[in-house]
Amino acid sequence: MKRKVTKAIFPVAGLGTRFLPATKSIPKEILTLVDRPLIQYAIDEARAAGIKEFIFVTSRGKSALEDYFDDAPELETSLRKKGKTELLEALKTTNMDSGAIAYVRQNRPMGLGHAVWCARRLIGNESFAVILTDDVIAAEKPCLEQMMEAHSETGGNIVAAMEVPHDKTSSYGVLDISEDMGSLVRVKGMVEKPAPDVAPSNLAVIGRYILTPKVMQNLNKKKEGAGGEIQLTDAIAEEIDNGNPVYGFRFRGQRYDCGSKAGFLQATVAFGLARPDLRDEFTDFLGDMMAMRDAAE
Ligand code: UTP
Repeated sequence: MKRKVTKAIFPVAGLGTRFLPATKSIPKEILTLVDRPLIQYAIDEARAAGIKEFIFVTSRGKSALEDYFDDAPELETSLRKKGKTELLEALKTTNMDSGAIAYVRQNRPMGLGHAVWCARRLIGNESFAVILTDDVIAAEKPCLEQMMEAHSETGGNIVAAMEVPHDKTSSYGVLDISEDMGSLVRVKGMVEKPAPDVAPSNLAVIGRYILTPKVMQNLNKKKEGAGGEIQLTDAIAEEIDNGNPVYGFRFRGQRYDCGSKAGFLQATVAFGLARPDLRDEFTDFLGDMMAMRDAAE
């Protein structure tokens, strides 16, 4: 029987320069969609997929993240006294069992592959998940859970994938497909950030992965790739060269690139409209905004 995947790595050591000046003193992962920080969406998705050990790869200036997952006894006592049970429930989702969460440090941002490699000792010889908190995915069944189900059939390596416009391939890792089975595709190559004219397809990798420990071993070589960074894509592609299976998985859901300002704004609108307590007021407001814009044109 295949062993269940119970460990996930959350690389959160990047500089988040696209959100400066906000990210000068606040980690990007603490930026908030409606009332929950990006990291909370990622943790909830991991929990739903059966993850039990949460490994954060952090860097200087990220202590707000560690505090976020600590108990807050004074706050809880105060809410209890005031009978604010709903808020207490909301707070509970931030509580982590002692020992379930671990932090390792990436001293310098040398790339996503390097960040993942920093967690090698905590991963050991097990398959593991990687979640990029920038990619927030609204889905009936959370994306990583969908991938775990596929993985229980296929084993090997699985990366979340979605079709992107041809002129945007240079923003992504792109898959070279050998067999298209619908939601799963068998991959024969992966290219990091290819220009549109050399991209092998328009099926792009986004921030959810289930990987074998061999990928971690490939990262040991610390080979520099695109942009002079140690790329996770390269370490996964090496597995294809070694004859080991790599699959792309077309997930069901809507992905928002919350690492970019436009994507973050789109997610804010979508998640605001999805909230029953905000929907009506927010819809009216957006309608008014559009009418005002039309009138001004
Ligand atoms: P990004 O490419 O979005 O970089 O990293 P960034 O630093 O977070 O943001 P910008 O581009 O400067 O605005 C993708 C993911 O990989 C992590 C980031 O934290 C983010 O979750 N990462 C990237 C690391 O943990 N370490 C790195 O060396 C690079």
